Amino acid sequence: MKVLLKIWRQDDRDAAGKLVDYPLDDVDPDMSFLDMLDMLNEQLVRRGERVIEFDNDCREGICGTCGMVINGRPHGPLTATTTCQLHMRTFNDGDTIVIEPFRASSFPLIRDLKVDRSALDRIIQSGAFISTHIGTAPEANSILIAKDAADAAFDAATCIGCGACVAVCKNASAALFTGAKVTHLSNLPQGKIEAQRRVVDMVATMDKEGFGSCTNTEACEAICPQEISTDYIARMNWEYNAAKVRQTGKSS
Ligand code: SF4
Ligand code: FES
Repeated sequence: MKVLLKIWRQDDRDAAGKLVDYPLDDVDPDMSFLDMLDMLNEQLVRRGERVIEFDNDCREGICGTCGMVINGRPHGPLTATTTCQLHMRTFNDGDTIVIEPFRASSFPLIRDLKVDRSALDRIIQSGAFISTHIGTAPEANSILIAKDAADAAFDAATCIGCGACVAVCKNASAALFTGAKVTHLSNLPQGKIEAQRRVVDMVATMDKEGFGSCTNTEACEAICPQEISTDYIARMNWEYNAAKVRQTGKSS
């Protein structure tokens, strides 16, 4: 199949960017979207042109590293699918495909389709730790975890940190990501002692990193490749208000 790719090219954050046309022939419908970009990059190398930069790692839908906006949708047209798990058979012969980076001021552009999503790491760093000195690793089953608590924690933990929820949100809010991380940890018995501090610090870091507020449009849940529920945003807000009441006697 043939496709016309319109790809965002930008040398760095301060350079002017623009969409550049790349017609591509002989695309195998069973190629993944990233394999197709690899094929284009091989052609660019042969022509002596700079390759298109994009993020990827596992190519199995589990690491959250890939992510670009394809025809206006983070991760492309399929629901519950990362960019690396998208295949060219999703498109038609002769299609024009517009490919842009995730756009949010908290995700500064590095080059072309590659953005810096380390702000999400800093949200995790501010809360996802246990401060108790535990000595050597405890026996795995010494703290029993009820099945429903383990299942609930695992459900929230399936967030892969890709940032599509931020990219699709009109406010560039990271509330779905942060809500999933807060809920994952608050469902487990380990780290209960830090629970109040954790949610307050993670929300504060989210704000400090410049992510916008959640206004409940729920576009994040619709675009999320892991189908993370906006219920976790409600859970984070509940935990945050409860922590603030305990800390100051006032909710916010
Ligand atoms: S909540 Fe979904 S869209 Fe957001 S970072 Fe996690 S997996 Fe990606
Ligand atoms: S490259 Fe790991 S999720 Fe896509």
